[in-house]
Amino acid sequence: MLDLTPDQVLTTTRSVRRRLDFDRPVPRELIEECLEIAFQAPNGSNMNTWHWVVVDDPKQVEAVAAVYNGGLDDYVASLGDAVGENYAGATIPRAKLIGESVTHLRENIHRSPALLIPLFAGRTEGAGSFFQASLWGSVIQATWSFMLALRARGLGSAWTTGHLFREKEMAQLLGIPIEAYTQVGLFPIAYTIGTDFRPAYRKPLSEVVSWNGFGS
Ligand SMILES: Cc1cc2nc3c(=O)[nH]c(=O)nc-3n(C[C@H](O)[C@H](O)[C@H](O)COP(=O)(O)O)c2cc1C
Repeated sequence: MLDLTPDQVLTTTRSVRRRLDFDRPVPRELIEECLEIAFQAPNGSNMNTWHWVVVDDPKQVEAVAAVYNGGLDDYVASLGDAVGENYAGATIPRAKLIGESVTHLRENIHRSPALLIPLFAGRTEGAGSFFQASLWGSVIQATWSFMLALRARGLGSAWTTGHLFREKEMAQLLGIPIEAYTQVGLFPIAYTIGTDFRPAYRKPLSEVVSWNGFGS
């Protein structure tokens, strides 16, 4: 375990892409340990309606990576002219670095020691806010806890959703019953190269917090 305070873990768990060590194997027991910790997160009525697909067979990792990259191709195509300077995130500090980092993961994700796809039981198509929030809200905290548990142990991941442009293709590849389960994202799992990570840019409190009513 790294010598980090809870606040340090919470503020320095980054989306790690360029500093994932794709050459160092990650033991299954370590992934299971992080999942056990993640499962302590809150979930609706404590029904544990989640399922976690871990892929560590190198051939299967390559196949999953190909779907991820195809999904990102679809995403970029869907942006049309909203790319480059027109991209919605282009004005965010360090936007160029984020782009390079995304590209690095694209080019190397097939080398990941392991990949995780969290699922929840149910589909949200056509569902109202209550069901949507309850279903997503019953898996997202656990997924983030998993990333925090990795960080505390010198490993890292990146939250990615790019492959969901091809959710069906991924479901077919992994045998996930798509009519019954929703995929949350795709998470590379690897040791990090070095363990010194820093807090990142976020909009200031004064811009995004209001008291006793919206915007006041
Ligand atoms: C919902 C969500 C989807 C994301 N999708 C992708 C993705 O498909 N590919 C990728 O490389 N990063 C993805 N990211 C990572 C973000 O780019 C990253 O969190 C953001 O730049 C902030 O960096 P930080 O997490 O290190 O603070 C995603 C993050 C979130 C929360």
